[in-house]
Amino acid sequence: MDSTILSQTDHGNLPAHCVCHPHPPPPTDSQPFPSLRLGFPIASHSHPPQVVVVAEIMVKKYPTVSEDYKVAIEKARRKLRGLIAEKNCAPLMLRIAWHSAGTYDVQSKTGGPFGTMQHSSELAHEANNGLDIAVRLLQPVKDQFPIISYADFYQLAGVVAVEVTGGPEVPFHPGREDKPNPPPEGRLPDATKGCDHLRQVFSVQMGLSDQDIVALSGGHTLGRCHKERSGFEGAWTKNPLIFDNSYFTELLTGEKEGLLQLPTDKALLADPAFRPLVEKYAADEDAFFTDYAEAHLKLSELGFAEA
Ligand code: HEM
Repeated sequence: MDSTILSQTDHGNLPAHCVCHPHPPPPTDSQPFPSLRLGFPIASHSHPPQVVVVAEIMVKKYPTVSEDYKVAIEKARRKLRGLIAEKNCAPLMLRIAWHSAGTYDVQSKTGGPFGTMQHSSELAHEANNGLDIAVRLLQPVKDQFPIISYADFYQLAGVVAVEVTGGPEVPFHPGREDKPNPPPEGRLPDATKGCDHLRQVFSVQMGLSDQDIVALSGGHTLGRCHKERSGFEGAWTKNPLIFDNSYFTELLTGEKEGLLQLPTDKALLADPAFRPLVEKYAADEDAFFTDYAEAHLKLSELGFAEA
């Protein structure tokens, strides 16, 4: 499978209930311009030579942001690298970005990466246990950039977390606006369930693909479960502060003393569409990084810049 991205853009100590800060003006101005993103799964057959091209065309229309906004994003990127190095908090930063975006519902176009995680009501969702810590860690950096929306800021933190731990560079397009209403509780996956549930949440609700599900599950190369947050305890890999393909190699080689596999992780091995991808990513880290970056980009832009 080959995938091409063509783009025409130039491309603590706060209270646990984080208060809603004055919203910056929307970081957009008048001239949105289109960007074209093409995914070409290509299968070639030899008798006779034939190329089957299935094109999934996702037209994105990124808002134009001001020069000041772009400068602030680059400065915030550097500050986030510093914060993550100082606090060793890359896993939590990736988790807050994913839990912010993963609530998107394609039908109602509600939820998604729009800054609502700053609200205590969303932090109180059971799936978000522990993310109040992420909000508190991020706030002093956010305070330095009032121009940046929370929506962009939380997604930028996720992109930086992957980058600074050795993972792929995930493209970042600014311009998400903060929305006032958190999504209803219950849209994030339940770790005790299986493949049908994963497809319900990722495919039916969020609009992502099987490949995205497996690639994004590789986010568990970072971090660990905490008994008091999720009821589970332990890390998926021996190096939970390094972004590599070890989530997949560990998954394939079975459960081991000291490491953890959630039911949703193990479910990937049992499914005929998921398992070959687990095997591919375990054997080929570059393939994982390519597909992960594409899936993370999609996740981080659910409901954003849709033409
Ligand atoms: C496939 C469905 C998923 C389920 C059921 C799931 C479930 C969980 C659970 C139960 C935890 C432990 C939380 C804690 O106790 O601290 C966790 C942690 C984490 N998850 Fe997921 N997750 C899923 C997908 C993802 C995705 C798509 C990403 C990112 C791309 C991700 C990134 C993380 C990270 C980085 C942590 C570690 C957080 C830390 O160390 O504090 N997860 N996940």
